[in-house]
Amino acid sequence: MGNFLSAYGRRLHDCWTNLSRCIVRHAKGHISNSEDLGEARDIEVLDVKEGVILKTISLRKNFGSLVALDGVNLEVEHGKITSIIGLNGAGKTTLFNVITGLLRPTEGKVIFEGRDITNYPPHKIVKLGISRTFQITNVFAGLSVYDNVVTSFQVSRGLKLSSLLSEFKREKEIIDILETLDLNEKKDASAGDLSYGEQRRLEVAIALASNPKLLLMDEPTGGMTPLESLQIMDLIKKLRESLELTIIFIEHDMDIVMGNSDTITVMDEGKIICEGSPEKVKADEKVQAIYLGEKG
Ligand SMILES: Nc1ncnc2c1ncn2[C@@H]1O[C@H](COP(=O)(O)OP(=O)(O)OP(=O)(O)O)[C@@H](O)[C@H]1O
Ligand SMILES: [Mg+2]
Repeated sequence: MGNFLSAYGRRLHDCWTNLSRCIVRHAKGHISNSEDLGEARDIEVLDVKEGVILKTISLRKNFGSLVALDGVNLEVEHGKITSIIGLNGAGKTTLFNVITGLLRPTEGKVIFEGRDITNYPPHKIVKLGISRTFQITNVFAGLSVYDNVVTSFQVSRGLKLSSLLSEFKREKEIIDILETLDLNEKKDASAGDLSYGEQRRLEVAIALASNPKLLLMDEPTGGMTPLESLQIMDLIKKLRESLELTIIFIEHDMDIVMGNSDTITVMDEGKIICEGSPEKVKADEKVQAIYLGEKG
């Protein structure tokens, strides 16, 4: 029994060592793609309107002479589903990249739960409760579905030895997440072998494993069949209810946007040009001009 336990302990240790190396390699890949972000300074608590979970103030992002974000003032209310729409190149993904710390803004601030998180590194922003999915699916293809989710779970909470003590609780939480995303039966499959739709769902599972308060989804229905798109939007609404999540999603399909958003934010050339209820946005002349190609 003693031999068995020590062999089991060694395997567990090897497994975690390999996983940690993999996580560090992946994190380095991400960071080398982003700008060099310094460590966060002390948290500053600001006065923000009650119920507002995220606010950006005069956010600007220049890429050389190109202005990708041009003074974006966004306010997102806790528990709401907000969609961000706009033509290709409007600055939607750049806004997500700045909010989540992958890009440093040229000017302006990002305020989350009253704290100025501008220029915080991505891992710190995840720990504070903002998680995201990407426009291009982003999973560890070589790891199993379960290990993809456990990796996110561990990284977001810190790879401390103490977390091994609550392995039972962790496993239950991960299985719950996989069941929510209808992926539990595939938990031992290699993520790279999943269908495209399943990989997109796995990405949501990875994002949920970090226990977010705010989930940003960049084109969650991109490349999906109409049925898969409906299913993912139903899931988004269920997540909002069951986990009290605040969700912001970028979307091009107007039927999906109009049918699933509490609030819509319309971007054009790095600016917010209209925001409000689906009815308000649908009736807006500037929005109609953009979508009917009558701009300028
Ligand atoms: N890292 C970068 N370096 C240089 N230019 C960039 C970079 N990222 C984005 N851009 C440019 O910034 C502008 C906004 O891009 P962004 O990806 O935010 O648009 P988007 O609204 O997400 O578009 P899409 O709907 O096509 O995904 C575009 O002109 C784009 O080419
Ligand atoms: Mg984009």
